[in-house]
Amino acid sequence: MKTTTLLLITLLAATVARAQDRLVIQADQGDVTISKHIYGHFSEHLGHCIYGGYWVGEDSPIPNTRGIRNDVVQALKAISVPNLRWPGGCFADEYHWMDGIGDRASRPKMVNTHWGGVVEDNSFGTHEFLDLCEQIGCEPYICGNVGSGSVEEMSKWVEYITFDGESPMANLRRANGREKPWKVRFWGVGNENWGCGGEMSADFYADQYRRYAVYCRNYGDNRLYKIAGGPNSADYNWTETLMREAGGRMQGLSLHYYTVPKTWGDKGSATRFDEAEYFTTMERTWVMEELITRHSTIMDRHDPRKRVALVPDEWGAWYNVEPGTNPGFLFQQNTLRDALLAGVNLNIFNNHADRVRMANIAQTINVLQSVIFTEGEKMMLTPTYWVYRLYKVHHDATLLPVALTAAPYRLDGREIAAVSVSASRDAAGKVHLSLVNLDPKNARVIETELRGINAKKVTGETLTAANLTDHNTFTSPDVVAAKPFNGARLNKGALSITLPPKSIVVLEIE
Ligand code: AHR
Repeated sequence: MKTTTLLLITLLAATVARAQDRLVIQADQGDVTISKHIYGHFSEHLGHCIYGGYWVGEDSPIPNTRGIRNDVVQALKAISVPNLRWPGGCFADEYHWMDGIGDRASRPKMVNTHWGGVVEDNSFGTHEFLDLCEQIGCEPYICGNVGSGSVEEMSKWVEYITFDGESPMANLRRANGREKPWKVRFWGVGNENWGCGGEMSADFYADQYRRYAVYCRNYGDNRLYKIAGGPNSADYNWTETLMREAGGRMQGLSLHYYTVPKTWGDKGSATRFDEAEYFTTMERTWVMEELITRHSTIMDRHDPRKRVALVPDEWGAWYNVEPGTNPGFLFQQNTLRDALLAGVNLNIFNNHADRVRMANIAQTINVLQSVIFTEGEKMMLTPTYWVYRLYKVHHDATLLPVALTAAPYRLDGREIAAVSVSASRDAAGKVHLSLVNLDPKNARVIETELRGINAKKVTGETLTAANLTDHNTFTSPDVVAAKPFNGARLNKGALSITLPPKSIVVLEIE
């Protein structure tokens, strides 16, 4: 085919795609709040998430406050982390909290059997975690041990942390230096109890859940928000059983789903992938939409008033570890692809905010889809971090109804949605729009109708890079970082948005 003909066909195709991309935003409607807790994080005793990530110890030359890195706390404050899930993950179901209190030098050591078989010296325990949450200004989300623990152990942990009166556990806490109890709302009753958390059947776990939950008491005005260990991806029977047998005794049901581009044996590289692998990654990340819709449908049958939240408290991309690193440490790079993936998932959660009221990306520092990397005294922000910075505008804002018609992203005869969007109105009346263009080659012009708002001004920021594989390093930390966006035009109340290829755009409309 002659080059000119090819060019004409490409231009025509682009015009057709443009003509189809249309968005309507109902700016004066909406009755659901996007809980800021959708923007939660997850940190496990795994690799260098806790040790080296947060915890360096009081004697470290790395600037710290009571052993916790100041640079990391500052970075997490800047994205207003609302809650932090800890101590696992699989680690939670073999963690015995009493090993992590009292004089640090005398704390017993254990083997972290799930994650690299390394020695866990328990120097980061309950007091250190709750101090970390206070420094960040976020709510703790503690996951208790059902798999290898006991009802008594979990019950005493709640008492130790939250009871203000005279009791063996409250007195032990005081002896360990903390007079006043902490406030802890989010409480996970086990983790992946269908797998590493005890390989239980749904019926068996439902009974266990009820038994453990009874003894997790509300002391004083501390009210626990109990989150049951939920399904693995598309295990709808788990959700059905849990909701039927224990739905009335929980405030949340977790959901775990990781985006794996290839297979669990060879997950694919974090930085070396072609467009076909990128396409599959995004195709699999869109599965989150279906999972949430279908689990919610089951929950709706048992809980039509949506009292119980669906909590995807482990989600994100999971690739092969970086060559030469400990396979048990799950360290992977983070590229523009990860940022786009995060943007899509967070838009999905926003759009399901009536049922999804909390979520936690795995995992904050140096593990899986991290927002921060550390190496000795150095710290850097990943592309995923920037998504959390940009999407902060949605925290506790009112979800706005949107209707999007956009041409799909096609590759090799397959197609997925190319554009992802969610919109909200904040307390000051400003409208925010987060858009993701997954198409790596074509810009998208989105003709947007703004209903119910007399828009006068639009500003924005964007996150993109030259290549999908681009990422930040300690020597080049700003390859993928948010920049001002000038591709939105207001004309007589209508908004035309030109989304660059493979980009995220967040707009503020006043
Ligand atoms: O996030 C890594 C692991 O993935 C968690 O420990 C576990 O819950 C899940 O399988």
